[in-house]
Amino acid sequence: MSERWSATVRRMQIGIVGATGPAGSALGIRLASAGHQVILGSRSEERAAEVVNGILAKWPDRNLSITAADNAGAASAQLIVIATPWDAAWTTAKSVSDLLEGKIVICMANALIRVGHEFQPLVPPRGSVAASVQAAVPRSLVVGALHHVPAKELADLDHPIESDVLVCSDHPVAKRVSMDLINEMPNMRALDAGDLTQAAPIEAFTAVLLELNLKYKTRVAVKFTGIDPEKLR
Ligand SMILES: NC(=O)c1ccc[n+]([C@@H]2O[C@H](COP(=O)([O-])OP(=O)(O)OC[C@H]3O[C@@H](n4cnc5c(N)ncnc54)[C@H](OP(=O)(O)O)[C@@H]3O)[C@@H](O)[C@H]2O)c1
Repeated sequence: MSERWSATVRRMQIGIVGATGPAGSALGIRLASAGHQVILGSRSEERAAEVVNGILAKWPDRNLSITAADNAGAASAQLIVIATPWDAAWTTAKSVSDLLEGKIVICMANALIRVGHEFQPLVPPRGSVAASVQAAVPRSLVVGALHHVPAKELADLDHPIESDVLVCSDHPVAKRVSMDLINEMPNMRALDAGDLTQAAPIEAFTAVLLELNLKYKTRVAVKFTGIDPEKLR
């Protein structure tokens, strides 16, 4: 890992763009509970402030460092997460591209559509949302991760979330930093899923998980067996 990141990964300033939805706000709560400084971003700073106030009121004893900003404010952080719907991900990233230059940008968006009772994966330009974001912000280090983690469970600090998280990127240091961040969340295990090409099947697989949720009236998470813990570093 480069010195720039190894020195700072313990307590990072993390901005989440599109953070007023269930996924971005839940991730913000978990990252803040792990000791990071989190900025929740929105197209409307007021909306972000409402979400932050709700979180702080719900978890008054957790000392969460969470503040509100517009999306540009969130993009000013050290590491940025894109948590918008898929069709807004690359335009939103592009709108703050200057602020994202040289930074790690984690994309958790999935391109899906619900048709009746069925979830269907869509193929965005360049095959995945993450690859589209990388093309929109070529000077940033885009990482695909956290696609399968159910937001409701992620937001519940009283319970650890038992889940593997597939992480892919064309930038090894960015992938390593993202995996370290994910591993800080109790019972979550980051797995190196390869280059950004893998974002396409990872994102599409979310449709299967949502079908399982419907079928079994639950919220599933992903766990892989057979990986030697010694090989995880
Ligand atoms: N929900 C989950 O369990 C889960 C789990 C893993 C991954 N994901 C992925 O994470 C992403 C966010 O999920 P979510 O359920 O939180 O989504 P969401 O509630 O539909 O959207 C999140 C936020 O994105 C912003 N947004 C909406 N439309 C936008 C647009 N056209 N341009 C810019 N910003 C826009 C909104 O914030 P403002 O209006 O405040 O700007 C909204 O609150 C999705 O791509 C999803 O596939 C979701």
